[in-house]
Amino acid sequence: MKKTILITGWTGYIGSHWVVAFEQAWYKTVIVDNLVNSSLKSLDWIEKILWYKPDFYNVDLRTSLQPSPLEERGQVEKINYIDWKEVKWNFSLEEVFKKYGFDWVIHFAWLKAVWESCEKPLEYFDNNIVWTIKLFEVMEKFWVKNIIFSSSATVYDSRVYEDKNFSWAVETDLTWNTTNPYGTTKFITEQILRDLSSFSGFRVANLRYFNPIWAHESWVIWEDPAWIPNNLLPYIMKVATWELEKLKVFWWDYPTIDWTWVRDYIDVVDLIEGHLKSYEKITSPQPSPLGEREQGQFEVYNLWVGRGISVLEMVEVARKVTWKEISYEIVERRSWDLAEVYCNPNKAKKELNWEAKISLEDSLKNSWKFYNK
Ligand code: NAD
Ligand code: WQD
Repeated sequence: MKKTILITGWTGYIGSHWVVAFEQAWYKTVIVDNLVNSSLKSLDWIEKILWYKPDFYNVDLRTSLQPSPLEERGQVEKINYIDWKEVKWNFSLEEVFKKYGFDWVIHFAWLKAVWESCEKPLEYFDNNIVWTIKLFEVMEKFWVKNIIFSSSATVYDSRVYEDKNFSWAVETDLTWNTTNPYGTTKFITEQILRDLSSFSGFRVANLRYFNPIWAHESWVIWEDPAWIPNNLLPYIMKVATWELEKLKVFWWDYPTIDWTWVRDYIDVVDLIEGHLKSYEKITSPQPSPLGEREQGQFEVYNLWVGRGISVLEMVEVARKVTWKEISYEIVERRSWDLAEVYCNPNKAKKELNWEAKISLEDSLKNSWKFYNK
């Protein structure tokens, strides 16, 4: 009997990869999204890979009522690209739970732009915390207590990254002093889930990642040519295709090989594998003492490569892969930016038997196949 998994926020950059991975791993996925930061083009892409569309519901977690029709939210253009009549529109979360007996929830639905969270903190607290609690209430009401939570390295205090000996058991240290409202929404939700695992029997795989780089060469999703990317890699790729003139490097004052700032870029395919491994880990039978409170579980894992790559190192790899110049200029830093963000993935390696395997060069080669079409 196939396990049925609810994936929230699935049409986004990360979630849509997960739908394909879990469907191909013989799970039935049911997917909800309000399309605030995505397009139904993801359904096209998924159908091209799976040869069918999973059940999609237009659900806005921020209302227990039916969300307003897309037309009223100015999103009608998002439904022109597919036979949208197949899409089930304007459902409440409870109606979806009533319809399916979910075994698991994977919670991706989030407002995730760090810069925007600094400008609209209350919108982020409302969307990401208040209504995630609504999701947890509905889960408990329907006795669905297994969840993979898509957390983030932004929960970490910046001091974690200053210790290059990786002496921090980072899954457990220094997570209270977040540096932006987005990170705060992740940290608070983690604490809620920790308590739900202690007192309400929730079983939680809490996964922290930072810089996924998409590398699914079959990704044929539509991209608006006018789209100006926020993230480093898509920006570099658009410079390589001459859609953008040059890369703006946000400052260089950090003691790396070229003084530019450092991140841990992980291929999205490796990330998916980490989610599947954590799913297996949490669903493995656990001894639950009879008569005691329902046994909950809360496991935290860094899904990281454990390798810091500077901005100009990324540019160099991109030049090698694309055979393009990729010009850049140094500009002022972004106020919310941390100079260096990468940690050790040792706990996931040891307990999930998982580690990132795809090289940065291979990731960029796959990305270039898409951008150079
Ligand atoms: P995304 O914005 O592409 O996808 C998020 C999806 O959630 C969007 O499709 C959006 O429409 C939907 N959504 C947001 N609020 C909603 C609501 N109230 N009701 C229903 N749907 C709603 O983001 P992503 O990059 O795919 O990230 C997915 C998850 O992974 C997020 O939780 C994010 O915080 C986390 N994450 C992302 C990164 C990254 O760099 N992309 C890194 C670490 C963690
Ligand atoms: C990477 C590096 C920039 C663009 C990401 C996600 C965010 C959050 C945290 C979830 C930095 C530099 C970038 C450019 C540049 N995810 N850069 N010029 O800031 O690490 O944030 O992880 O938890 O949602 O976006 O990613 O790709 O924006 O920046 O110099 O045009 O590249 O300074 O050092 P970031 P990014």
